Amino acid sequence: DRVQDIHSEKVEKVKNMSFVFDIDGVLVHGDRLIPEGKKVLDMLNGDNELGIKIPHIFLTNGSGKPELARTEQLSKILQNPISTDQFIQSHTPMRALAEYYNTVLVVGGEGYKCREVAEEYGFKDIVVPNDIVAWDPSIAPYRVFTEEERATSRPRDFTKCNIEAIMVFSDSRDYATDMQIIVDLLRSENGRLGTVAKDPVSQRIPIYFSQGDLLCPTEHPTPRMSQGAFRIGLEAMYKALTGVDLERVVYGKPEMATYKYADEVIASWMEQIHGEEKIPQNIYMIGDNPASDIVGGNLYGWNTCLVRTGVFQGGENDEENPANFGVFTNVWEAVTTACRKEL
Ligand code: G3P
Ligand code: MG
Repeated sequence: DRVQDIHSEKVEKVKNMSFVFDIDGVLVHGDRLIPEGKKVLDMLNGDNELGIKIPHIFLTNGSGKPELARTEQLSKILQNPISTDQFIQSHTPMRALAEYYNTVLVVGGEGYKCREVAEEYGFKDIVVPNDIVAWDPSIAPYRVFTEEERATSRPRDFTKCNIEAIMVFSDSRDYATDMQIIVDLLRSENGRLGTVAKDPVSQRIPIYFSQGDLLCPTEHPTPRMSQGAFRIGLEAMYKALTGVDLERVVYGKPEMATYKYADEVIASWMEQIHGEEKIPQNIYMIGDNPASDIVGGNLYGWNTCLVRTGVFQGGENDEENPANFGVFTNVWEAVTTACRKEL
């Protein structure tokens, strides 16, 4: 009976906890598995002493693919099922913007994948930089535009339509072309190419970025520059050309709106797993980037765990944004330590 009691007590405690995983640098490096990532998910999906599921969601600044395509890919790499209901990419909350704008420029990502993402979010009229280059190649003087790109573009006369907002969804694959087109649009009269506004501010269209990470861990030995570096470059160019600061909106970690969104996703995922409504209490965020995962988690009141498998390569803890639950060699150590504390 005593054993039974301890078991039910632990099951009750599990119902109050959940994990939030960063993906790159914690569970995978690009498309390469971090072995402890699979081990952790096996455990949380039921391979544990209680034989029950421990709820967890994924909160990544990654981007560039529809949610379903990315979760299917990650499920294969991690050899564990991942549902879109427990998955947030940097641009996922941007789906709410679809109702505010008709024609938008969507920047970044491989090929035309981000056009697909935007379509899925319900954006009605989606322009990508290649549509503009196909219409007027001289807009990007150094761009070599392939026949294949031309064939899959949707050119039109962009002097006859207003682009109402710019959405940077993912990393630019061609900084020169994308920056040129973005600056042209930001300086235009209400997003009409071929015009230059007299006042740089009042007729400027808004620009949104899906995340602000400076660096991203990849297969390369040192982290690579990411969307935050692209944005800073763009801001500096814009300021030099116009004399005014660029106002912009940034989504993703560590922005509070993203954590609030994640909090709602945790609550509904916990309800799916446990079959009862609970207010998420003991939440553990496991991340590798102090400047995004940890600072945001700390501000939002979560327990934060910093791992050494990604961006963070420092000493005992990060000096500017220390993880409040501790620093761990890898994700397995972090999760098992948290479970020992809670259960
Ligand atoms: O910085 C870009 C992105 O790939 C980082 O992803 O999963 O570490 O938030 P993640
Ligand atoms: Mg990461």
